[in-house]
Amino acid sequence: MPTSVNVAVVFYSATGTLTTMARAMTEDAEAAGATVRLRKVAELAPQAAIDSNPAWAANIEATADIAEVTPDDMRWADAVVFGSPTRYGNVSAQLKQFLDTLGGLWQAGELADKVYSGFTASATPHGGQETTLIALYNTIHHFGGILVTPGYTHASKFVDGNPYGTSHVSGQGDLPVNEQTLTAVRVQAERVVKFTRALKDGLGA
Ligand SMILES: Cc1cc2nc3c(=O)[nH]c(=O)nc-3n(C[C@H](O)[C@H](O)[C@H](O)COP(=O)(O)O)c2cc1C
Repeated sequence: MPTSVNVAVVFYSATGTLTTMARAMTEDAEAAGATVRLRKVAELAPQAAIDSNPAWAANIEATADIAEVTPDDMRWADAVVFGSPTRYGNVSAQLKQFLDTLGGLWQAGELADKVYSGFTASATPHGGQETTLIALYNTIHHFGGILVTPGYTHASKFVDGNPYGTSHVSGQGDLPVNEQTLTAVRVQAERVVKFTRALKDGLGA
């Protein structure tokens, strides 16, 4: 029996791009043999802002079946894959707020020695995908986490071109998640599961 691997996919999405990516990440990590908890972070925006954007309101409805993340999901996970759209080249406030609730676990050392990875989306090709992932990864260093990023470890990475994590260019909402992005998700999910299992095996030996 291969060693069991628990993966938490923890994401924020306003208008659905990251939701599609997070659901695909969940399926691909499961296909790679992991047990997966798909979790959204809490929405912080005022209802009036959400209601002013039909895609935002639709995404709230479309994610009603996904539980909100709790610190226990972090404790449970051997690997956490975080997803956030770029916000001015940075992590969304909603995901950051969740990270900022984890001080207790962090101080207790319970976030260390796990595998972490990230995925993102932006409106434009140079709109901050790499900076968003690197901003996210700053936190992982403070956790004492082990970053598993895709690098250029698969032929497809020379096509999508982002070694830091999966990223999608969504335009003005008119560029839905495509085959290229779904391939990047699969490559990242498989790599996260593979190295999480190897880490657990190695530490258990
Ligand atoms: C406040 C705000 C700031 C944003 N900043 C950028 C940006 O700097 N560059 C960019 O390309 N897209 C930016 N975007 C666009 C989103 O990152 C992009 O639409 C993303 O794909 C949305 O993901 P979602 O559909 O999962 O919410 C911004 C969006 C918002 C609402």
